[in-house]
Amino acid sequence: MQPCSANVLVCCDAEAAAIEVGRLIACAAERAFDERGMFTLAVPGGSSPRRAFELLADSPARLPWSHTHVFFTDERCVPPDHEQSNYRFAHEVLLSKVPLPSSNVHRFRTELPPEDAAVEYEEQLREVMGDQPRLDFVLLGMGEDTHTASLFPHSPAVGVLDRLAAANQIAGLSAHRLTLTFRAINSAHSVGVLALGSEKAPAVKKALQGHRNVDAHPVQGVRPRSGQLLWVIDHCAASEL
Ligand code: 6PG
Repeated sequence: MQPCSANVLVCCDAEAAAIEVGRLIACAAERAFDERGMFTLAVPGGSSPRRAFELLADSPARLPWSHTHVFFTDERCVPPDHEQSNYRFAHEVLLSKVPLPSSNVHRFRTELPPEDAAVEYEEQLREVMGDQPRLDFVLLGMGEDTHTASLFPHSPAVGVLDRLAAANQIAGLSAHRLTLTFRAINSAHSVGVLALGSEKAPAVKKALQGHRNVDAHPVQGVRPRSGQLLWVIDHCAASEL
């Protein structure tokens, strides 16, 4: 199989990458609102999206928040007020600072058993977007091991293609993670993968130029079926390309 042929935008630094991600989300929102009167966004956890969230929070008029629904690409199996909660992170940095109706924030119900939480999340996706949900924009990060969302190398959920969300048992982690599956991610109208810093350079090279092996390098599985894919990386993360 050929390496990924994704579009890659190399930004001069992390700030420029954050500005670009904010622009991509705003453009996707404008297009979705014009076409469907609604914008559906899925956001990740981790440190990479923080600055992009701050920029969006600083300019709330950029998005039609009252017609926006926010989902999460993945979640840790912790309470929503836990310091490791992706929901808590997004709420603190962005969602609490924009005029987004609380009913439009769709978190994984981590108070349920992991499998039940995954089933319930799929129901939330379908309640908002219908039986064949297509998120308008999915923002993803990538770990140094090339995981994305909570689709980790050699983990069971990487191969789950008949569900939209899954509880994933991660080798080396004592707990499950909850995650969107590639079926949900690759149904999206647009996907952005954000990778910053020299520590991500080897993973970026494997992802974009390495032999295709999704089980070993899950981020290679991000290939929207009929949507757009753009990698937004800074010079440091691009340094081994
Ligand atoms: C999470 C994220 C995860 C993240 C990568 C990169 O729950 O941690 O969804 O997939 O995007 O681990 O994390 P950083 O942005 O912190 O490097």
